[in-house]
Amino acid sequence: MTTETVPFRLEDYRPPAFTIDRVHLDFALSPSATRVVATLSLRPNTEEAQNGTLELVGDEIVLKGLMLNGIPLDAGRYEALPASLVIRDVPLAPFTLTIETEIDPAANTKLMGLYRSGSAYCTQCEAEGFRRITYFLDRPDVLAVYTTRIEARRSEAPVLLANGNPVESGDVAGTDRHYAIWHDPFPKPSYLFALVAGDLGLVSDSFTTMSGRRVDLRIYCEHGKEGRCRYAMEALKRSMRWDETAFGREYDLDIFVIVAVSDFNMGAMENKGLNIFNDKYVLADPDTATDVDYANVEGVIAHEYFHNWTGNRITCRDWFQLCLKEGLTVFRDQEFSSDMRSRPVKRIADVRTLQARQFPEDGGPLAHPVRPEIYHEISNFYTPTVYEKGAEVVRMLETILGADDFRKGMDLYFERHDGEAATVEDFLACFADATGRDLSQFALWYAQAGTPQIVARGHYDGDAKTFSLTLAQSTPPTPGQPTKQPMHIPVRFGLIGPNGEDLAFSSVEGAAVEGDVIHLTETAETIVFRGVASRPIPSLLRNFSAPVRLAIDMSADDLLFQVRADADPFNRWQAAQTLAMRALIAGTADVLTGRPVAAQPTLATGLAEVLDNEELEPAFRAQVLQIPSEADVAREIGQNVDPDAIALSRRQLRLALARALGPSLMRRYQALGVKAAYSPDAADAGRRALRNALLDLLVATGEDEAIAATTRQFHDADNMTDRLAALASVSSAALPQRRELLDAFHERYRNDPLVLDKWLTLEATVPAAETLDRVKALLSQPGFAHSNPNRVRALVGGFSAANPTQFNRADGAGFDFLADFVLDLDRRNPQTAARLLVAFRSWRALEPGRRTRAEHALRRIAAAERLSSDTLDIVTRTLA
Ligand code: ARG
Ligand code: ZN
Repeated sequence: MTTETVPFRLEDYRPPAFTIDRVHLDFALSPSATRVVATLSLRPNTEEAQNGTLELVGDEIVLKGLMLNGIPLDAGRYEALPASLVIRDVPLAPFTLTIETEIDPAANTKLMGLYRSGSAYCTQCEAEGFRRITYFLDRPDVLAVYTTRIEARRSEAPVLLANGNPVESGDVAGTDRHYAIWHDPFPKPSYLFALVAGDLGLVSDSFTTMSGRRVDLRIYCEHGKEGRCRYAMEALKRSMRWDETAFGREYDLDIFVIVAVSDFNMGAMENKGLNIFNDKYVLADPDTATDVDYANVEGVIAHEYFHNWTGNRITCRDWFQLCLKEGLTVFRDQEFSSDMRSRPVKRIADVRTLQARQFPEDGGPLAHPVRPEIYHEISNFYTPTVYEKGAEVVRMLETILGADDFRKGMDLYFERHDGEAATVEDFLACFADATGRDLSQFALWYAQAGTPQIVARGHYDGDAKTFSLTLAQSTPPTPGQPTKQPMHIPVRFGLIGPNGEDLAFSSVEGAAVEGDVIHLTETAETIVFRGVASRPIPSLLRNFSAPVRLAIDMSADDLLFQVRADADPFNRWQAAQTLAMRALIAGTADVLTGRPVAAQPTLATGLAEVLDNEELEPAFRAQVLQIPSEADVAREIGQNVDPDAIALSRRQLRLALARALGPSLMRRYQALGVKAAYSPDAADAGRRALRNALLDLLVATGEDEAIAATTRQFHDADNMTDRLAALASVSSAALPQRRELLDAFHERYRNDPLVLDKWLTLEATVPAAETLDRVKALLSQPGFAHSNPNRVRALVGGFSAANPTQFNRADGAGFDFLADFVLDLDRRNPQTAARLLVAFRSWRALEPGRRTRAEHALRRIAAAERLSSDTLDIVTRTLA
């Protein structure tokens, strides 16, 4: 076993003893021996500085020189270890420290700190990467003004970039080297530091801000890929404009730079003025990117840009406050995309993601509050809970306050905390102060983990014309939190009348109801609506107004009515999903008991009507056609899960639906046929989504005509969306034709790593017994690279997170494979290894045979020598 580590606790927060006002960094770049000279202007900050000991952190650092106020320090005055530099008897007045370190970017396989991606140099400092560059007070509440000088061989790195504005550049006389100096006037924490150097292609543009300042916009990428950056550039300009109109936020430097790199642990990073991106969230053109890729590029470009205000101008006091910037910024990027595209469809997609990723986290061993109170390894808290549930909490705040008051609170936040490192309390106080509302109960959303459940019951009294609605809330226990308090849950609602319109009511008793929002604050409340003309169908949690599970006993006919008539598009979709979920759960029980799976006429009727309803946008209809996934069903069943039974039940249901919809499927598919040239806009993307959802159902029949149409679409498509959709349908149905098509796809895109990732994922997600062997074989194919997180996630992540029947093989071979892979990867890239391991998070919900095998694999990991803190943390919590 690896040694125990001491956790970090929110309650232990203390301000830094010293602070750093200015940082001057000088980089002499060289692949395996880069020299860094850091000159820090320090100042004692608190009483604690009085003992005169300065403690800086490092990570695998080699110290080459140390001066205090320009004078070399005696060896007896300090102790330098790879992970710390402790200096005694420092002045109790401002002083400068000059630290020279040597680092090896080429050997940096963790991709944290300064590393190489291809032939370029780049950095990733959030959360704790800066300490891999130099010793520092590497914590977000130390805000300094940075000047960065970079020097490199001109031929090796003609492009030299850092945060802020360019100040100076030129040749280093008498050498083949050149330099550039950048200055960032905005104080920032070290995690926002960035440097890029290399031989890169460039796309330039400009943006004029609302106050008339012209900003130079640049996207750097691998040479030859400039054409694939155009869409990202347009998305950037849209984001800049939107933040001005929606939040009054203007950009603040003379230049904004994005760099796309191929080796990146996460999605992207909001370094001040120099965003660094995983290239999959920048590059897009019709032949290589799907509509979903385009939407992701737009969303991530916006997300990182929006961080300039929510994250950079106002940063986090400590890492427990991560949601302060991430949840808020996800909320902002979701709102942006809703304004650029279809709001209801965006909402449905976001809720699907929340339910698929955050709900299982919240319901399993890795559950933690939106603002955690304890961590061992902060890298493991860049989670769906902090990001997506964090965004939901901000959305609820907007629902509770209303759009105008929400904006007032945001304005106050920007005004009050600009230039500071803030907390969740600071954030909430702005809304309370701006509106006079009491948000103390609401604050529990940041502190209590677990997905609350609302059980709803309605009763209509036809004589009294009253409708009573009882809502009871409870939040299940989660690690470290056995009991929960009731939360303030905003329940948006409507009472659907017989003609489909929302019924009026004359008065309400029993709970706070404001407009169409019920404020549920007690454990249980009964709300009596008076003057309700006829029996309503309650439509609750409209637009998914809170991240909760809702249980309400409704007949299939009422659900069908809701599919047809609910004024809220989200709940129309939700009602169809509920019908499908019921069918899938019943079907799974039928499979397990050997009964024939029952037909589902109500669901089929609902889907057929939605499909035929030309008033509904195609993208919405596509969402309705997409019934819950196998993982959704597993989560809903929650215990004793048999993934094979779920898969079979889902296959049979889809077959039954395809048969019930009959020839209209093919007719509609053909009618939606491509006419104009490809455009990635939301309307066209929606038509493709519907057409491909139809195709996917057609393929479920396994009929020759359907397969022929799919093969034709695969070959004839003029864009990646349609080509990949055809391939995915054949492949995920495990049809024998898949081999030929997968090979053809590989042949066509063999030189394009991002496209090959899609292929790797399709190979890894075929629901067939031979897939595990195929995945193992692909690990040693030339297209795969263990060092590249995108390849690893596509193949191994695809297998473990998106192939429920094969990862959860009854013989445990899927678990053993992931354990072996994680143990191997952990020695080189712990962050990516730990992330893969999260695939085990629902292991306790499996049926006993699989559960035993999963536990065995996890225990084997836990027992390994020299685990990284990242992997140790995940495996320990998963087994706890
Ligand atoms: N702040 C980045 C974002 O925009 C995420 C960076 C996290 N990186 C990491 N290595 N933990 O969401
Ligand atoms: Zn972010």
